Amino acid sequence: MAKATGYSCIRCEATFPPDLIIDSRGCPHCRTDAPANLKIAYRQAAASADGQAAQPAPSLWRYADALPCATGDAVSLGEGLTPLLAAETMGAFLGVPQLLIKDEGTNPTWSHKDRFSTVAVSMARLQGARVVATASSGNAGASLSAYAARAGLQCVVVTFAATAGPMLAQIRKYGATVVPMADKSHRWPFLASGVERFGWFATSPFHAPVVGSHPAGIEGYKTLAYELVEQMHGAVPDWCVLPVCYGDALAGVCEGFKDLLNRGTIGRLPRLVAAEVHGSLTHALARQGDVVDDAPAAFDSLAISIGTTRSTFQALKALRDTAGTAVAVGNAGLVELQQRLAACEGIFAELASVTPLAAIQTLRRKGIIAASDRVVSIVTASGLKDLDRSTAFQPGLQAFQSVGDAWEHLRKDGQKWRALEGAA
Ligand SMILES: Cc1ncc(COP(=O)(O)O)c(C=O)c1O
Ligand SMILES: [Zn+2]
Repeated sequence: MAKATGYSCIRCEATFPPDLIIDSRGCPHCRTDAPANLKIAYRQAAASADGQAAQPAPSLWRYADALPCATGDAVSLGEGLTPLLAAETMGAFLGVPQLLIKDEGTNPTWSHKDRFSTVAVSMARLQGARVVATASSGNAGASLSAYAARAGLQCVVVTFAATAGPMLAQIRKYGATVVPMADKSHRWPFLASGVERFGWFATSPFHAPVVGSHPAGIEGYKTLAYELVEQMHGAVPDWCVLPVCYGDALAGVCEGFKDLLNRGTIGRLPRLVAAEVHGSLTHALARQGDVVDDAPAAFDSLAISIGTTRSTFQALKALRDTAGTAVAVGNAGLVELQQRLAACEGIFAELASVTPLAAIQTLRRKGIIAASDRVVSIVTASGLKDLDRSTAFQPGLQAFQSVGDAWEHLRKDGQKWRALEGAA
């Protein structure tokens, strides 16, 4: 590792050398009590993560001083520096007029996972890996494939037979080797054997219970916090809400805000909120202790990217450290929120990325978020990623036979017609 000195446990703080094999089981000491991920340890506290651009790279590598390798070693596609947009109309609807949306759908592979992949693949290449691998056929797989292509590394993406859609198309276009397993449960053992036999650099979890993804990639998510504070001219939001699966992004964002607090750039932490599906973090927060238990699935979520029944200690810790909370979000109203966000703000988000808006609505209704609070919602991926689910309810469009037919049809909807006339 370059600037990194090794790893430390996010729970017991035990330290480990840089040549530790990352086996996806987390800290060896915490394994039996409460499995916990490792994080990168630095020679000095991650250097200039002070919300100021240390190096003017046109990507998140402008914060290279706070990342485990130097800009010169970075595998970059120009990720990060995504827009932070005031979303007043959506905010008014949710009861939080000061709503800001960080649109991660503008990243190179259209999701926030690029922040992870750019650092993970850079470190993989630096450590001499020839092959990177993941057991994700979603945003993480698409992103890893692109960065592997950019780095000239082989990429293996282990999927299950039923996987389809835009993300699989993306993965294949980027030239990754797709390994579809008929039985979903065979994905992790396959990946584990690739790591053992050939030294593949696996970025996704491949052992249960999951502790999170590779610690190098999680460092990349710190830049979300740095960018946010910079874009808010040094201010701190009251709340920062993310869709959460294994909590890599949540943990990284939390670390980023802590860096800024330690350096005195900000005076307090925002409260982080996990929008989740099946409620494992909600239950874990309600209990004492560091174990996140399985919360058996009661329904099939439309927010498939975050559909886990069991999140991680790293997510729980980020919520505790920031006095945050978790909200379990069901399917009801999700497609409507997605439609509303697109139609009133011009932001087309993946269904998983809409769950924070539902969480904000719930917390506002309960009076936990106040109307005067500044709330940041992270749109983690573009709506083009899961068209199958989000357009399933959209009525079909029929072509008109003539110009006259088209006008006649438009005139039928009185309210719409007045709007198109420019009258309403
Ligand atoms: C669109 C989207 N949002 C959020 C997440 C949550 O990721 P994490 O594991 O960092 O909690 C994912 C993960 O797959 C995702 O694809
Ligand atoms: Zn530990």
